Amino acid sequence: MHYAAVILAAGKGVRMYSELPKVAHRAAGKPLISHVAGAVREAGIDDITLVVGHGREVIEEIFAGDAKIKFAVQEQQLGTGHALMQAEQEIDPACSLLVLAGDTPLLQASTIRQLIDFHQQGEYSATLLSAKISNPYGYGRVLRNIDDSFARVVEEKDASASEKSITEINSGMYCFQAGEVFRALTGISSNNAQGEYYLTDVLEVLKNKQQKIGIFLSNAEEDIYGINDRVQLAQAETLLRQRKNIALMKSGVTLIDPVSTFIDSAVQIGHDTIILPFTFIEGETVIGEHCEIGPGTRINDSTIGDGVSIEYSRVKQARVGDKCTIGPYSYLRPETVLLEGVKVGDFVEVKKSTIGKNSKIPHLSYVGDAIVGNSVNIGAGTITCNYDGKNKYPTILEDGVFIGSNTNLVAPVTIGSNSITGAGSTITRDVPPQSLAVERAPQKIITRKGRN
Ligand code: UD1
Ligand code: CA
Repeated sequence: MHYAAVILAAGKGVRMYSELPKVAHRAAGKPLISHVAGAVREAGIDDITLVVGHGREVIEEIFAGDAKIKFAVQEQQLGTGHALMQAEQEIDPACSLLVLAGDTPLLQASTIRQLIDFHQQGEYSATLLSAKISNPYGYGRVLRNIDDSFARVVEEKDASASEKSITEINSGMYCFQAGEVFRALTGISSNNAQGEYYLTDVLEVLKNKQQKIGIFLSNAEEDIYGINDRVQLAQAETLLRQRKNIALMKSGVTLIDPVSTFIDSAVQIGHDTIILPFTFIEGETVIGEHCEIGPGTRINDSTIGDGVSIEYSRVKQARVGDKCTIGPYSYLRPETVLLEGVKVGDFVEVKKSTIGKNSKIPHLSYVGDAIVGNSVNIGAGTITCNYDGKNKYPTILEDGVFIGSNTNLVAPVTIGSNSITGAGSTITRDVPPQSLAVERAPQKIITRKGRN
């Protein structure tokens, strides 16, 4: 059976008190709606339509470059039923339709699969996913007939006191026969406490047409957790991180203290790598095997090889080769590439530079817009003066160069292979290979007597 999915994401999310639409808020490094779309794809459904309205540019931007995602616009947010109506043109009426909300970032592919299997095996024309939760406040409650069959869903705001005591709630996730649901949607009204077209009413319409309605009572309580405010957002964040940490530990990564380790969902880490506390690993970062990362380190969108150690440092959009050691207290900025065995020591900033094999920048340096060869040693306090206030210029240090401590390399400048600069020199002209460049005023010694 061909499946399509519609994710409802046109609402503002009033309780977030935010300029961003609710589903664009991030948990574990990804917008809420991307978590939902990701789970749908993982469940094997590629035909995805997002119903957008409030802040739609922001959501379209999130999926820019993802040509497969379709959009339907709900200009005015008149309710979840009205939202689904807007997607009709995008959906083949012959298919089965999964309908989800964009604010449930904990939803997993396994739960979607279970819902679909239940829907198919029962040959229902509509199936709703329900759960029993201890605090059902705010959710729609599932009302059943004496024979346990579906009666209707009543929203919190429309519920009587006895209905409010029901703990079986509507997750807001459904499977429908597409043609049937779009036909039935024309039969719902907005005659309720919120004056909205409730999607939940479509179930009653179908039931009255003698269609079979299934209820899949799930025990995946976390999966249906909907985010309405920032307290719930923080709770989702915690749960997502726990899941990520557990998956990593089960695949062979040691986390010394999972509670103080923050790893985004998309991050990949090889086995026998140890992550020390107070470490953030974000975005699309890939870390190899046998590394030691942290404590106190933040890495985003970077590729780190095998056997690397990084301590108390910041690494941003950089590539670090095998067996490099970084820190404590270093800053690798975008477009930094360290080849194998590089040492970047304490209080070193590297920007947009390639550092060759086994080269060392051990202490207190700034290296920007540089190409550094293999086995180069850059002495403490060395600065590439790469910026004249208007433009940036390159510094080239060829293989085997030894830069004396506290050298200023005024770019553009090239130091030929195996050359040396004397400590404290300001180098403004190119240095040929195999030579020594010194730029210093001769030392004067003035004795006390001499001063009289
Ligand atoms: C909905 C269900 C409720 C269920 C709960 C589960 C209805 C009437 N109620 O309530 O039974 O227990 O979800 O979390 O469906 N949206 C639109 N356009 C609109 C209104 C909403 O796109 O006009 C989107 C929102 O952006 C959101 C989703 O639909 O992603 C759910 O809307 P929300 O207002 O959060 O519904 P609930 O009141 O939580
Ligand atoms: Ca909700």
